[in-house]
Amino acid sequence: MAPHVLTTPLSIGGTTTVRNRLYRAPVLEGAGSGPDAGRRYAKAFVPNAEAGVGLVVQGSSCLYAEGRTSPGMTLVHERERVLALAGMVAAVHAAGAAIWLQVGHGGIYAMEAWHEPYASGRKGPLLAASPLPKLLRPAFAGVPVHVMSTAEVEALCVRYGDVAAWAREAGYDGIQLGSANAKLLDQFLSPFYNHRGDEFGGSLAGRARVLRRIREEVGARAGWDYTVTVKLPAETAPPAMARTTVDETVQLARLVEDFGYDAVTPVEVSVFPDTTLSRGGIPTSLWRNKAMKTRFAQAAPSQLRRGVLSAGYVLGGVTHPFRPVWNRDLFKSVKAAVGVPVLAVGGIRTRDEADSILDGGEADLVGVGRPFYAEPDLAAAFLAGGGGPALRCQNSNLCVPAQMLGMKGVCYNPAVRSRSSQEGDG
Ligand SMILES: Cc1cc2nc3c(=O)[nH]c(=O)nc-3n(C[C@H](O)[C@H](O)[C@H](O)COP(=O)(O)O)c2cc1C
Repeated sequence: MAPHVLTTPLSIGGTTTVRNRLYRAPVLEGAGSGPDAGRRYAKAFVPNAEAGVGLVVQGSSCLYAEGRTSPGMTLVHERERVLALAGMVAAVHAAGAAIWLQVGHGGIYAMEAWHEPYASGRKGPLLAASPLPKLLRPAFAGVPVHVMSTAEVEALCVRYGDVAAWAREAGYDGIQLGSANAKLLDQFLSPFYNHRGDEFGGSLAGRARVLRRIREEVGARAGWDYTVTVKLPAETAPPAMARTTVDETVQLARLVEDFGYDAVTPVEVSVFPDTTLSRGGIPTSLWRNKAMKTRFAQAAPSQLRRGVLSAGYVLGGVTHPFRPVWNRDLFKSVKAAVGVPVLAVGGIRTRDEADSILDGGEADLVGVGRPFYAEPDLAAAFLAGGGGPALRCQNSNLCVPAQMLGMKGVCYNPAVRSRSSQEGDG
């Protein structure tokens, strides 16, 4: 019998080789930007690698001093900060896994919009692709928003190239663009947000031009062989509102392949930054977990802002409950359209699911996100074979508010969390 694809190696771009097809999808660790960030990442990632995971995608890190969506997010806007993570990267390699740095910016959802003390310190203005959609204006009342000029978009693309070069220097095997989940790049890709009149707006190709320019800058600064990959959003939106459809996501996949990207990760997301990207329960921990409740009140003293954020979470949970492998139709369609590797993610919980995706040729890697919080060693059981066992994560989403509040990336579901994750809510 032919071996399962899951256990066979794969090369992605010029600088990434994965020993198997299981990757840790990007979820934040709350590692922050302090001198111990590398140690914190290593504590999470080295056990994953020791248990056999093929690739770790480090959660989104921010390429400007402002623009994080959480105080726990790592800043990579300076070379020294990226190089400070080199020891962690080497430790992950020593344990056998590859590692990519995900690079992003929150755009209008950066914490400078609503997260005290940053918001009242007016560290902004928030960077935006276009003026705020009307629907969002009440929630952003008083928050200064700056529509990026063409030159500023060009500078953003150059910064992506610089960060990629620093990531290469630090030993990362590649980078992934944080280009979904309603973040800045998604705000350029999405017709819900992007109404620009310059070359970075208009048609799908115009909205995607930012990805073309980033690919060029990464090639020029980090080397054309350096592995660079991209998340591709397919969006849901309120009725009659503009969004990126599945057909457009497939077209986008073809475009980015032409631009020279080495792999794509298609994901269904909302035009809002809610839990559509991590389908599951309503994160009631935001008002039930004492530490989260306190941090939330400090982060957003305005009741209106807290109300809007909580309502988004409730709506996300109600409209997008958990469904096993919910992105399947999307990644299958993209896989049929492109030649570069396609990374599957979203509700993949059993070995049987992984085998059916990979052996069926529906995608090239399978990603697991939330379950790693409770089971750092899950790769061992997953790779051992035999059909199961199912991962323990219940998709409660109780972990979700912790990441926006800068808390540790661990399992917050008392019914699930392992002893190793009970070390504190810090
Ligand atoms: C707490 C949390 C943080 C996340 N952070 C990121 C991120 O930084 N970048 C990203 O592209 N996706 C992020 N995601 C989405 C995950 O990578 C993944 O796509 C999603 O959780 C679905 O996979 P799962 O069902 O295996 O958890 C995050 C999800 C959660 C729950």
